[in-house]
Amino acid sequence: MSVPVICTEVAKTFRGSIEAVSPMTVSFAAGQTTALVGPSGCGKSTLLRMIAGLETPSAGQITIADQPPEVIRRSAGLSVAFQDPSLLPWRSVRKNIELALDLARMPKTPNQIEQLIHLVGLDGFADTRPAELSGGMRQRAAIARALSTRPKLLLLDEPFGAVDELTRKQLANDLPGIWEASGTTTLLVTHSVSEAVALSDRVIVLSARPAQVVADIDIPFARPRTPDLLYKAEFTKIMDEVYEALAKGVSGTLPKAAQ
Ligand SMILES: Nc1ncnc2c1ncn2[C@@H]1O[C@H](COP(=O)(O)OP(=O)(O)O)[C@@H](O)[C@H]1O
Ligand SMILES: [Mg+2]
Repeated sequence: MSVPVICTEVAKTFRGSIEAVSPMTVSFAAGQTTALVGPSGCGKSTLLRMIAGLETPSAGQITIADQPPEVIRRSAGLSVAFQDPSLLPWRSVRKNIELALDLARMPKTPNQIEQLIHLVGLDGFADTRPAELSGGMRQRAAIARALSTRPKLLLLDEPFGAVDELTRKQLANDLPGIWEASGTTTLLVTHSVSEAVALSDRVIVLSARPAQVVADIDIPFARPRTPDLLYKAEFTKIMDEVYEALAKGVSGTLPKAAQ
């Protein structure tokens, strides 16, 4: 089960003056993985937080399967894994995952929890507290927790930021399998253009603040995707397209459609 997300003329202004997101209309199809890329500070996290129902838009409307974000959030239908993993420090990795399942009123199946811990490469750390883990390990624990409730909508904000290169590759390899199997609608904010293209069905390039859509690029590669995709000419061509759009969004020379 997955859900579509529709943002209509959504805007956010902080303290009456900082325009983080200017009126933006964008929708995300059910079951698709969309990557959002854009310069630092352009409003990506703000957009994701509004979709998560954690921040109220200053204008416009967001619906998730025709409901406001709060509704799906309360029913544990959406999960977030943000840059700054908000794990409870006094609870082990396992207990953090169990708490998410409790809050969602879902069964705490030990096998399933072990599988998730294995998936994110934290074997042997199930009973360790976040304070004793590295930043990257904490991020991986937060990803496991986000996936545990089998959300219909998964919001990932630079979830691989502090993860080391090798694990990052491993996660990038394994995670799409989960999204595909469960038909989760996934929004992924990432700094890495290659990650955006490799993982998603669609890449949305945002301009410098206030964020506007500079380019909306379909990623046509069949799934499951294999690591050799990264060396193919078509892959490089799409990456170039993304880089070009990013440059336009920074220099302010937006294409007509985005003006
Ligand atoms: N709670 C807040 N209060 C005031 N300004 C904020 C707040 N959150 C974000 N901003 C500002 O909004 C802009 C967009 O921030 P953010 O969405 O975090 O960007 P990104 O995730 O693309 O790096 C930035 O200028 C940031 O300083
Ligand atoms: Mg951010």
